[in-house]
Amino acid sequence: MSDQIDRVLVCIPTYNERENLPLVVRRIRDAVPSADVLVLDDNSPDGTGDVADELAAADAQVQVLHRPGKQGLGMAYLAGFHWGLDRGYDAIVEMDADGSHQPEQLHRLLDALTRADLVIGSRWVRGGSVVNWPLHRKALSVGGNLYTRALLGMPVHDATAGYRAYRADALRAMGLSQVASQGYCFQVDLTRRAVRLGLRVTEVPITFVEREIGDSKMSGDIMRESLQRITSWGVHHRADQLRGLSRRREATWHEL
Ligand code: GDD
Ligand code: MN
Repeated sequence: MSDQIDRVLVCIPTYNERENLPLVVRRIRDAVPSADVLVLDDNSPDGTGDVADELAAADAQVQVLHRPGKQGLGMAYLAGFHWGLDRGYDAIVEMDADGSHQPEQLHRLLDALTRADLVIGSRWVRGGSVVNWPLHRKALSVGGNLYTRALLGMPVHDATAGYRAYRADALRAMGLSQVASQGYCFQVDLTRRAVRLGLRVTEVPITFVEREIGDSKMSGDIMRESLQRITSWGVHHRADQLRGLSRRREATWHEL
């Protein structure tokens, strides 16, 4: 695996982010001028797709992938990852459009990626924080991460985080064609794949700032999908562990 990271693609999924998108794209272009930006718009009713087209027309380093309708964060990212891998990028970044992930902190993730395969911008490690989140969102994130850790036993503090940088080779190894997660559990899904492959997963602290414009797209359906998938991955993981244990016990028994 070559360690060189030259070409970086920042993927931004959008659904009704008309006002936020120009602000975040400007900040990315200022913070890391060498990085290209790909907007993944799900045919937002508020016309975010048109705003994205205008940004792309004005800047050769900004491009847009128009998708037919709202198919979920996970599906939008998968399309963006394939787009970037096909075009030979060395690293692919995930970033929300609403300013919660500060482009000015992107260099932290990219610096760490020189020694890692997946870097997670983490709210729940020392130095990480969340600004302006209501208590119920904090509880959901902390609870979700505790549940994920208890079931999947991963050494990651913010497995649901959406500010990330992946090496292209790591994404190629992850079996993206088998990913079925549509909503926000996509983040846990890819974390789990990286850990199972024995890839180098690192967390760097970030300050997550709650959006000031527009609304979160978190919904009951997204929470239900997360709960169902994480529980099912956990059950399979623990069953695998038990099978491994009993095989080891049998082997020891035969040796006696
Ligand atoms: N294309 C597309 N399609 N974009 C979407 C969709 C979709 O179906 N759903 C959400 N998005 C975009 C939003 O427009 C935004 O840019 C980004 O995805 C994040 O959506 P938010 O709705 O702002 O997420 P959040 O702030 O509630 O959740 C944050 O925390 C979650 C839990 O930690 C995000 O960082 C998530 O990635 C994270 O899993
Ligand atoms: Mn948000």
